[in-house]
Amino acid sequence: MIGNDRKVSAVDRKVSDGAKLASQPEPGSSLYDPLSFEVRQDPYPAYRRLRESAPVYFCAERGVWVLSRYDDVRAALRDWQTFTSAQGLEIGEFVGFFGKGDFVQLDPPEHDVLRRVLAPRFANRAMAGYEPAIIAIAEQLVADLPAPGVVDLADTFTQRLPLLATCQMLGIPQSDVPWLVAGFTEMMRRPAGESTIPDRVRQLRAELGGYFADQVRGRIDGDGASDLLGDIAGAVRDGTMPPEYVPGMCLMLMDAGMETTAGLLGTIVHLIATGAASASDMLDADGGLTNSAVDEFLRYDSPIQWLSRVTTADVTVRGQTISKGSRVLLLYASANRDAEAFPDPDRLDLNRNGARHLAFGDGIHFCLGMPLAKLEARVGMRALLRRHPQFTLSGEAVRFPGLVSRAFHHIPVRLDAPASVG
Ligand code: HEM
Repeated sequence: MIGNDRKVSAVDRKVSDGAKLASQPEPGSSLYDPLSFEVRQDPYPAYRRLRESAPVYFCAERGVWVLSRYDDVRAALRDWQTFTSAQGLEIGEFVGFFGKGDFVQLDPPEHDVLRRVLAPRFANRAMAGYEPAIIAIAEQLVADLPAPGVVDLADTFTQRLPLLATCQMLGIPQSDVPWLVAGFTEMMRRPAGESTIPDRVRQLRAELGGYFADQVRGRIDGDGASDLLGDIAGAVRDGTMPPEYVPGMCLMLMDAGMETTAGLLGTIVHLIATGAASASDMLDADGGLTNSAVDEFLRYDSPIQWLSRVTTADVTVRGQTISKGSRVLLLYASANRDAEAFPDPDRLDLNRNGARHLAFGDGIHFCLGMPLAKLEARVGMRALLRRHPQFTLSGEAVRFPGLVSRAFHHIPVRLDAPASVG
């Protein structure tokens, strides 16, 4: 029902090669198909059509229901009993790919136990401890940019900063970071909607998972390092979680922190590079990104466009019954453009106040990494804009092939010589 037997289309293959999206729109008359060329180029017109004429929509091509209005998406996210996460979150993706311990794909009570293992280190108040290290990573990345000149800011900055920040938090030894980042990046490059796992990907998952298991084992035997892997080791030691959950939890964390934050940073960089947003409108007195600007970028072009749930009972939404066992797409990005929640929703307003956007989800699976993502955006953009307050696109920006992510694979820009910083 959820497309596990779906063949990878020619469009998927082409996109997965890192080429820009194919130039021929796929034929089709439906109101919304998450795999269509048109939707993947620019989903917002389709989201508007859905909200206005079919807020509870059945996409026959993929056999899934689609919710697009703010109130409906939020209500579903808050009702985990009816909308379970335990049967995977995407279409035709590898359900349970990371293995046990990936608690974003678990319901309570197991979800809650595992989330609590990581929660203290992700709390807002814990971020001050990480700030100096994240600043140092961001400053180094910016100092290494070849300026003046043309550079791909996705490769050198928007993807790299989140990966290095997540490694820092986990406590990965510096000498292992390049290997881990290369392996993880290769593992996650897969055709959109692909449903079979290539041997190489299996091998990488085993190697990376084994690496994390070793790291945690070392901390169980050692003196208890003060990092995220140390917290996981503590939970294994005291019996809160079994050791076989370690690889899945760590791989999920790497994934959760990577394309998402890369999407946020990429959106900001792209909007500046195209002249759609001005650096001076988004900075506070300290030169960091204002909180309202970060939230507005997340609302305006949400890094995770949608995730799905499966219904555990018949449920009626706006008079339409969705039967038990149906997959339901929750369009976070459409909810965030709903005029009933956000006046003038298609306008980027960096001072916007009002309803809370759903880019980090809602309910029990609300993003654990939000404070880290916001810290990265604030200090990362400060580092970049202090040295390069302006830059322009020098070629075509290309997005990742995945279905749910809006992150950029390439953002080629022309940089001037860096401004001197005091
Ligand atoms: C702008 C950046 C980010 C965005 C937009 C984002 C978005 C989300 C969303 C939408 C969910 C909910 C998933 C669902 O509804 O099923 C989520 C969950 C999660 N996120 Fe993030 N995320 C970001 C950054 C991060 C970072 C940096 C980390 C950690 C390194 C992280 C860790 C997690 C974890 C562990 C969960 C699972 C929470 C649970 O199931 O209880 N996220 N994120």
